[in-house]
Amino acid sequence: MLGWLLPFDSTLANGVLIYASLVALSWLYRRLVARPGLAHFRGQHVFITGGSQGLGLSLAASFARLGANVTIVSRKLDVLNQAKAEIVKRCSASPGNVADRVLPLACDVTQFEQVEKAVAQAAAHFKQPVHTLVACAGSAMPGRFVDQSVDDIKRMMDLNHHGCVHAAKAVVPGMLASSAKGRTLVFVNSGCGLTCFYGYAGYCASKWAQRGFAEALRNELVADGVRVCVYYPPNMDTPGFVEENKTKPKVTAEIEGSSGILTPDQAAAILMEGLASGNDAVTADPLSELARIQSGSNASPLNVFLDLAILPISRIVWTGAYLFMNHVVRSAHRQQQKRD
Ligand SMILES: NC(=O)c1ccc[n+]([C@@H]2O[C@H](COP(=O)([O-])OP(=O)(O)OC[C@H]3O[C@@H](n4cnc5c(N)ncnc54)[C@H](OP(=O)(O)O)[C@@H]3O)[C@@H](O)[C@H]2O)c1
Repeated sequence: MLGWLLPFDSTLANGVLIYASLVALSWLYRRLVARPGLAHFRGQHVFITGGSQGLGLSLAASFARLGANVTIVSRKLDVLNQAKAEIVKRCSASPGNVADRVLPLACDVTQFEQVEKAVAQAAAHFKQPVHTLVACAGSAMPGRFVDQSVDDIKRMMDLNHHGCVHAAKAVVPGMLASSAKGRTLVFVNSGCGLTCFYGYAGYCASKWAQRGFAEALRNELVADGVRVCVYYPPNMDTPGFVEENKTKPKVTAEIEGSSGILTPDQAAAILMEGLASGNDAVTADPLSELARIQSGSNASPLNVFLDLAILPISRIVWTGAYLFMNHVVRSAHRQQQKRD
């Protein structure tokens, strides 16, 4: 009776057909039905740490363009004010007075009391709690572990992990008290939160900690209707990246050399599309997507069929990548020994 569903004589061919249909159906369902879109951000309050430059600034402009009330925080008020002017400029085609919808607040996210105060100030200013947090403040100080101080490692952990914990701790109570649609915690991670290599021991540790924290929160908040999204961007042409390159070991740069670099606006557009499509583990390039799949970071339960089909390829590609990294490190080591 179900012969038309199983047109092949071979069980394997029928199995492949059924699996391919499941992949296609789950993909179509995600594209057409389970797509939250971005319209709900209009009139909502988005709180962005690290919103004064780089990716955070591009994201602030994206949310402002959608009609959101946007709070941007970082440590320097003068840079934040310039960022606000830039956002207003970029939103010149948007209706209403954009300047009224952008609030710059100075705050060091490594200090919980300052974050708590900024969140309270922002909520009072816009007369609404934070509906979406974008925890974007972060930085990499690459270096060989033996050459770095314990303080260097702790600084990255303080900013990249504890800074996100502080921001989440400050906004989640208000989010839970609200019934607004699409409340979301967005954590900006990195390709280094999915894979690890030379020069990034401290940075990777901080981004893996942040990812673990975010994924546990995702499960904790699922029943409250609060979404948790982690973004794993590749290298981006930002002031932070320029700074990072000043201390980057040659070996690290050589390993990274093969990966592309995005503008902050391109990286922001990819995250916005991820948010629109209901993707909770957003990557921006094929290699990072393969890393996500093998890491078990779940983009959406609806991805399961495609993820499973790609998993073996991912393992093979990343085994090749790890062998390449070892090769680069060993070659550099040999050259150094020859020079000594
Ligand atoms: N750029 C890349 O290649 C790349 C790649 C993968 C992932 N990422 C991640 O993407 C995120 C954004 O990177 P980016 O390159 O756009 O960074 P960026 O250009 O260095 O900007 C960082 C932002 O965070 C703020 N910030 C730094 N320390 C802070 C603190 N203690 N308290 C509050 N704000 C603080 C900075 O302002 P102040 O210094 O004035 O406080 C600035 O607004 C980071 O989480 C980074 O790890 C970046």
